[in-house]
Amino acid sequence: MSDLTSLEKSLSAEIAAAASEEALEAVRVSALGKKGSVSALLATLGSMAPEARKEAGAAINALKDRVTEALAARKAVLKDAALDARLAAERVDVTLPVLEAGLETGRIHPISQVLDELTAIFADLGFAVAEGPDVESDDYNFTKLNFPPHHPAREMHDTFFFNPGENGERKLLRTHTSPVQVRTMLAQKPPIRVICPGRTYRCDSDQTHTPMFHQVEGLVIDKSANLGQLKWVLEEFCKAFFEVPSVKMRFRPSFFPFTEPSMEVDIQCSRKGGEIRFGEGEDWLEILGCGMVHPNVLRNCGLDPDAVQGYAWGMGIDRIAMLKYGMPDLRPFFEADIRWLRHYGFRPLDLPTLAGGLSA
Ligand code: DAH
Repeated sequence: MSDLTSLEKSLSAEIAAAASEEALEAVRVSALGKKGSVSALLATLGSMAPEARKEAGAAINALKDRVTEALAARKAVLKDAALDARLAAERVDVTLPVLEAGLETGRIHPISQVLDELTAIFADLGFAVAEGPDVESDDYNFTKLNFPPHHPAREMHDTFFFNPGENGERKLLRTHTSPVQVRTMLAQKPPIRVICPGRTYRCDSDQTHTPMFHQVEGLVIDKSANLGQLKWVLEEFCKAFFEVPSVKMRFRPSFFPFTEPSMEVDIQCSRKGGEIRFGEGEDWLEILGCGMVHPNVLRNCGLDPDAVQGYAWGMGIDRIAMLKYGMPDLRPFFEADIRWLRHYGFRPLDLPTLAGGLSA
């Protein structure tokens, strides 16, 4: 019977060494399958003498039972191990915070948001967007806009000038978006209906002034443009932008070299509890300058003041953004502090539209 003992030994070793369920199945087939080693032993019983068969049969069947048991035990161990490995591989740490996609975590800067809002409102009123360069000529920034050569208004703009070039021309950083009016009139034939948003520069810095800031200009030129239309456009804009059903506006006489008559516009507001609300209250807040385009400006831009006329306005974008969204200080707009942006920024997929709500 030492044959049986050594067979059992080697089968036990094979079973213990089987590292996977497939390997274990191969061991089972090699022992208990039709052509397996244990089955081969059972097949020898038929040719044995009855006495010997009885003894051998009992021993072989006992061996078969032990091998079957050992296979089952090993199979259970391998199954457990496989499950453990799978659980470890597919482990989910439910305490980890869910990572938001970039589109969810990114924020739109309030200036970009307000620019989109302005564009949506004026697009609805039939205005196209026109643009010009930040580095501008003295001619477009001042002269063509009817600033006389040594007029004090040039000084009032706190202009950043560049050193004169080879031809003696002194470029500057545009002090307002009004030179885009000039560029548009020189490039397009009336009727013209544009807004010109963009960066502007003046040497000035405090809580409500930064050396670089943003303006939006509006310009309408056609045969019959008039102050009544200007007032209506500005009123419609203010209602839509501040998202109120009505606004009261006050037009005060003022002076700009490029408009005649010129006006500054205030809107009615209340400032109770340090909070500004529009469409109610007893206070007034200045928000823009406007007027009828001066005939000299039309002439300087190749238009005939007897054939066409126009109205224009200019407004600080940063200022109306501060007013609308309750931001008390302008300087953090340009400090790129991610915490400020997370607080005051807008969700990227909430595009402002008049139909869907501007800031909702
Ligand atoms: N350019 C002026 C400024 O920066 C604002 C302005 C006033 C623009 C009246 C206009 C206007 O177009 O008509 O102070």
